[in-house]
Amino acid sequence: MKTTPFNLLNRRSFLSRSTLAASAIVSGASFRLALSARAQSTRPGNPLRLLPEWSGGTLTAAPATVAVWPGYPGPVLTLNGSIPGPTIRARRGEWFTARIDNQLGEPLVLHWHGILAPERMDGHPRDGVASGQSYGVHFPIRNRAGTYWYHAHTDALTASQAYRGMAGAFIVEDPAEAALDLPAGNHDLVLVLTDKRSNAARQLIYSPTMMDTMSGYLGDVVLVNGTPDAWLSVDRGRYRLRLVNGSNARIFKLGLSAGRALQLIATDGGLFPAPVTVTTLMLAPGQRADIVVDFAPYSVGQSVVLRSFSFPASGGMMGGPRQGTEFDVLRFYVDGAATGAPPVPATLSAITPLDPALAQRTRVFTLAMSGMVHTINGLLFSLNRVDFTVPFGQLELWEIRNTSTEFHPMHVHGALFQVSYRSSTATLAPEDTGWKDTVLVSPNETVRLLVNFDSYPGVFLFHCHNLEHEDSGMMLNFEVTGPPPVKLETSRAGTNHVISYPQSAADYTLEHTPRLGTNAVWQPASQAPVLDDAALKFTVPRTGTGFFRLRKP
Ligand code: C2O
Ligand code: CU
Ligand code: CU
Repeated sequence: MKTTPFNLLNRRSFLSRSTLAASAIVSGASFRLALSARAQSTRPGNPLRLLPEWSGGTLTAAPATVAVWPGYPGPVLTLNGSIPGPTIRARRGEWFTARIDNQLGEPLVLHWHGILAPERMDGHPRDGVASGQSYGVHFPIRNRAGTYWYHAHTDALTASQAYRGMAGAFIVEDPAEAALDLPAGNHDLVLVLTDKRSNAARQLIYSPTMMDTMSGYLGDVVLVNGTPDAWLSVDRGRYRLRLVNGSNARIFKLGLSAGRALQLIATDGGLFPAPVTVTTLMLAPGQRADIVVDFAPYSVGQSVVLRSFSFPASGGMMGGPRQGTEFDVLRFYVDGAATGAPPVPATLSAITPLDPALAQRTRVFTLAMSGMVHTINGLLFSLNRVDFTVPFGQLELWEIRNTSTEFHPMHVHGALFQVSYRSSTATLAPEDTGWKDTVLVSPNETVRLLVNFDSYPGVFLFHCHNLEHEDSGMMLNFEVTGPPPVKLETSRAGTNHVISYPQSAADYTLEHTPRLGTNAVWQPASQAPVLDDAALKFTVPRTGTGFFRLRKP
């Protein structure tokens, strides 16, 4: 265990940004320094920590001592020395390759939440590795551009590990989004929100009681990128804030203190067709929302707070942390003049609405309380039991009925979905629209979603993202079965052959041999197939001979 002062981490996060972002941030920082170094040093709270970025290589999970509150070191879990973990940045169509090195002293598996990954790379709890071991993942990114995240999904340790720091943001970029002129560079910020409970020594404590397990482990302070009482110096321009709710149980109802509107541009699975103006939005554990805040209406010297507003809720302990209470998340100090950032484009990214009339079947999931735990269709999770099967590539309607008095943010692995109905309202709130992977189901509410598992076959999870609910068994396994048989297709294109195979076989090994026969030597092919729509493609010259095959993992 080594001690890492938090300001050192801050420093490192500055240095590890891309050159462009780094120069933008440094000039912003020095400007602010010149403007108001004295004012800033006397501001209450702590400057928001900007997260380091990572785009490939090894992610090392290890315990460390970090002073989350300056001057109060305590034990946490870090990824590459950072809590939360570094922000992963990947591009749609490219291969995501990572080695996860577990030095935690306990088992670990990481899940890429919202990211479509082959079964064995999705981070199922059965795939956890022991401390001292490492494992690799390698798959093409087929998600839309957007804000995703990753976190521990270790058997019975998901809540504890995520709480202690095993989580981070995962950003997917693509050229279409980059062409939109949305706020970028130091005006495009990841904000990982985590709700924590601290002890008298200002250390993060995770020791849920039976009551906590029932309601979820609610905290008394929200950290933004690991920073308590966080503040950020902004200019009078527009900022894209990528909000990730990485809390175990805390549901946020986010809005600006002044009651001013903000623009919601994306939910879990990326951009909306058009921005939507809102004053508040609900953000449940596991969910993401990208908002654009325009600070032009404020004058230099003013401050405004991103706040979680109160909402009706049961749950939480009498006299202790409760669900639905109001608190500040992040304070913005308007220190700089306007940057003239362009307005958000009226058209963002098309989404084809799924049609409930085309669903090939309906499944009903009843959420219920059973003693101190929560069940789905009367079941508690069993690691190796498959609870239902889902045919590959068919549209399904899932109806989730919450018969309990608790909120359940329900999350699906293996596909993104669209919410089609909520019993409590005739019109879906903007944060229910777009492509989603987690939907909040309120007490006594019924929600329907439309989903098509057309990415990968195999065993995936459906669970509550209240991580105490999840770890205490509110989770099912389902198996996506019967994708079309995998074969290599060849077509001619000029002097080349184009060879393609379905993306659902992304975890197969592509092998090559110069000649066939009994002594043929098959070797991993040097080609890196490119993801094109739902197929992986590569080209070889038509001259010369060679043979390819796919080997099942
Ligand atoms: Cu974010 Cu199964 O998890
Ligand atoms: Cu997930
Ligand atoms: Cu739940």
